[in-house]
Amino acid sequence: MSEVLTNLGYIAACVLFIFGLKMLGRADTARRGNMISSIGMLLAVVVTLLSRGIVTYQWIAVGAIIGTLIGAIAAQRVKMTAMPEMVALFNGFGGLASLLVGWSEYHRHPDSELFTMVATSLAVLIGGITFSGSMIAFAKLAEKITGKPILFKGQQVANAALLLAALVCAVWVSLYPSQAYPIFIGLVLLSLVLGVLAVIPIGGADMPVVISLLNSYSGLAACAAGFVILNNVLIVAGCLVGASGIILTNIMCKAMNRSLANVLFSGFGAATAKKSEGYKGEAKPISAEDAYLLLEAARSVVIVPGYGMAVAQAQHAVRELGELLMANGCDVRYAIHPVAGRMPGHMNVLLAEANVPYEQLVEPQDVNPVMETVDVAMVIGANDVVNPAAREDKASPIYGMPIINVDMAKTVIILKRSMASGFAGIDNPLFFKDNARMLFGDAKATVSALVGEFKSG
Ligand code: TAP
Repeated sequence: MSEVLTNLGYIAACVLFIFGLKMLGRADTARRGNMISSIGMLLAVVVTLLSRGIVTYQWIAVGAIIGTLIGAIAAQRVKMTAMPEMVALFNGFGGLASLLVGWSEYHRHPDSELFTMVATSLAVLIGGITFSGSMIAFAKLAEKITGKPILFKGQQVANAALLLAALVCAVWVSLYPSQAYPIFIGLVLLSLVLGVLAVIPIGGADMPVVISLLNSYSGLAACAAGFVILNNVLIVAGCLVGASGIILTNIMCKAMNRSLANVLFSGFGAATAKKSEGYKGEAKPISAEDAYLLLEAARSVVIVPGYGMAVAQAQHAVRELGELLMANGCDVRYAIHPVAGRMPGHMNVLLAEANVPYEQLVEPQDVNPVMETVDVAMVIGANDVVNPAAREDKASPIYGMPIINVDMAKTVIILKRSMASGFAGIDNPLFFKDNARMLFGDAKATVSALVGEFKSG
C-alpha cells in the first residue's frame, strides 16, 4: 500500500476516533460513538497490517486470536461492578505495550538519533509507571491488597528522588544511547518502582481518579511510542486518550471538590480510620407499605441511585417503579452524581440498560436548587454521594465535596441493608435527620416490594 493511501487511511481512522469520542459524551449517542471508534480502530489496524514493514504475520495472527478471545470472554464475564478493575488492567497493558515497543526499538537500533531516543525514553518511563501503577490500582479495587493508603515516612521525598533518578537515566540514554544498555534497564526498573510507589499512598475511594489519570498516561506513552516507530495514527490516538483521560480526571476531581495534587499526595482515607466522633440520633425504619403510602401521595419524586443499586441489580425494578409513579401522576427524575457507583457513568449505564428515558436523568446542580420542592427523595443504595457531612461537618474527610442534597427534600427514604457506611468509610448524618426514613433490605427486594404495593394498591 502506498504511503499516501496509508496516511489517508490513518486520517479516516482519526476522524472516526474524534467523532466517536464526541458521541461518547452523551448517553443517547454513546453506543453509536463506541461503534464508530471501534470501526476507526479496525481501519487503523488493517491499514497498518497492509502498509508497514511487517516482520511476521504468523505471530501477529496468534496474538490477535489470543487477544480477541481474552477480550471477548472478559467483556461477557466481568461483572459491571468489576468494570473499573478491568479498565485498570487494560490501561496497564497499554502502558506495558508502549514500554515494550520502546525497549524492542532500542534493542534493534541502540544508535538512534536524539529525537527517537527521547521518545523511546518517554515511552518506557511513562509506560512503566502506567503498567505497575495500574496493577496496584487493580489490586486495590479488587481488594487483593488493602484499599487504605499505604504511607511511610519520607515517602514524597523518596518518590521525588526516584523520579529524578529516572529522569537522569532518561537523559543519559537519550544522549549516549549506544553505551547505555544497563542505564536503560535501570530506567525500566525505576519506572516500574515509581508506578507502585505513586499509587500505594492513594486510598481506594480515590482510585477512579487515579485510573482515569493512568488512562491518560497510557495515551501519552502510546503517543511517545508512535514517535518512536513514526506511526501517525498511534501518535494521534495516544494524544486523544491522553487528553480525554485528563479531562475526565479533572471532572472527577471537581465532583469531589478536590485538587489533583490533593488526590495524589494527601493520603486521603488514612485519616478516616480514626474517623468521626459519630453522629447522634435515632434512625427511623419504615416498612414497604408505609413507604408506598408516601410515594403514592407524592407529586414529585427524585430517585438517587448509587453503588447498592448496582450490587442488587435493581435497575429494572427501579425503572418499573418510576413508570408506576408517573402513571400515578407524579413527576419522576433520576439524579445522577458523577462519582456514584464505582466507575464514571456507572449509573447512566445501568439505567440505560433498564431503558430509563435519558430525559429523566438530571445532574446534581440542576436538581439541588429545587430540592426543597421535592416531595420524596428516594436514595437507592447510595451513601457517600448524599452525605450532608460534606456540607455541614468541617471535620469530615469529604467536607466540600458536592453532594445531592436529598436531606432538603420534604421526605427522604433511604433504601439499604444496614446502617453501614459507603465506600469512603464514613458515617452519614442523613440517616438521623427528622425527615429521613430507612427502608432496610436488599434494594431489588425492597423496590420490588414497592412495585408490588403499587400494583395491588
Ligand atoms: P457508597 O457510598 O459506596 O454506598 C453504597 C451503599 O449501598 C452502601 O452504604 C451499602 O449499604 C448499600 N448497598 C450495598 N449493597 C446493597 C444492596 N444489595 N441493596 C441495597 N443497598 C446496598 O455508594 P455511592 O453513594 O454510589 O458513592 C460512590 C462512592 O464510591 C464514592 O465514595 C466514590 O468516591 C467512590 N467511588 C466512585 C467511583 C466512580 S467513578 N463512580 C469509583 C470507585 C469509587 P449497606 O451495606 O447497608 O446495604
